[in-house]
Amino acid sequence: MEFFGKSILNCLRKITIGINKMYNEIGSEFWIDKNNISESANEMPAWLNKFGNVVLTTSGRGALSLLLDQVKPRVKKALLPSYICDSVILPFEKAGYELTYYDVDKYFRPIDIETIKNSNTGIFLHMGYFGFLTNQVLSDTILSLKSKSIIVIEDVTQILFSDHKSPIENDFVIGSIRKWFGTPSGGFLASYKSINCELLDDTSDFINLRKISLHRKIEYMNSRDKYMKSTYLSGLKMAEQILDEDVKPYKVDQTSEMIIKSLDNKRLQNFRKRNYEFLAYQLSGLNGIEVIFNNLENNITPMFFPIYIKRNRDKLRQSLIEKEIYCPVHWSMPKQLNGCLNDVTKNIYDSILSIPCDQRYQIEDMRRITNEICDFAEE
Ligand SMILES: Cc1ncc(COP(=O)(O)O)c(C=O)c1O
Repeated sequence: MEFFGKSILNCLRKITIGINKMYNEIGSEFWIDKNNISESANEMPAWLNKFGNVVLTTSGRGALSLLLDQVKPRVKKALLPSYICDSVILPFEKAGYELTYYDVDKYFRPIDIETIKNSNTGIFLHMGYFGFLTNQVLSDTILSLKSKSIIVIEDVTQILFSDHKSPIENDFVIGSIRKWFGTPSGGFLASYKSINCELLDDTSDFINLRKISLHRKIEYMNSRDKYMKSTYLSGLKMAEQILDEDVKPYKVDQTSEMIIKSLDNKRLQNFRKRNYEFLAYQLSGLNGIEVIFNNLENNITPMFFPIYIKRNRDKLRQSLIEKEIYCPVHWSMPKQLNGCLNDVTKNIYDSILSIPCDQRYQIEDMRRITNEICDFAEE
């Protein structure tokens, strides 16, 4: 590959594109793969059990609310990273917490450790990003916070399938499972302490809307019927609105529990790693694009392939959408952080783009993405 050089490969692939016109869309919501559901799978899987006692909820937000119902911190204050999704902020706000934020660098490593150590907070929340254990630098800090009876929570949503070499001693772990594969609902709270709870069933339309919409998505992927697409998209949007309004903890539904317990996590891990490595090889060194993590160590399972686009991020994103390649932005800046970000964090929000590399895709799909991004970088 090296021998030909990237620009000759570029010409070759342009010819291939001309021949091969019928594409599937890449990215966006998962669909439910009925072939991978086993009704007899009833054990909590090892990839969740490693976090301690596990309670499955419908969402990550629900898991956080459940946790906040359980704890009595020394002060009703929480310290969160300033690079964050607004759905993590929401349960704290609804529970009446005063919130402050700490910054991370462009590789998502928390900075200003002394301020974190000296903060007068009741809860400290930390997380790794995109599969990478960027919060490992906090190991000592966390011990120091715990010695002051500060409750330490790790949000493992984005590092769910990566293995910690030396796990951080958290009081609680929460996560959103539904971001990794097709399931109507899925979040969890875990701890090595006991968790006392009687969760209610979710009686809102959230689960049903998600179930119907994810089934419609697979019908769309087979039929390419545009009407089907607009109905599942509006169903999914409505489901998210329901979740934004009601962040209370609910029990995971039966279908989702079966999907979670029968997941082939090794396949998920292998596909993601292989796809990531292809993207890293093809996209490193491109003009105007910065690959954030070039090396994928063995214990890492990536969630996405994150890059910084130095100029015109939204233009690139739009041109990919026109090719039916849907790359999310993690995340839009939460309104609560308006005016209180340093330049580095602001720049993360303004220039980051997440490229899908998940288990639905083959190398050919990854090649389609890199071809488009190479064209953009050459413009
Ligand atoms: C890091 C992180 N934690 C928690 C959540 C909340 O999960 P859910 O959408 O399942 O409530 C999200 C949602 O995007 C997230 O990105």
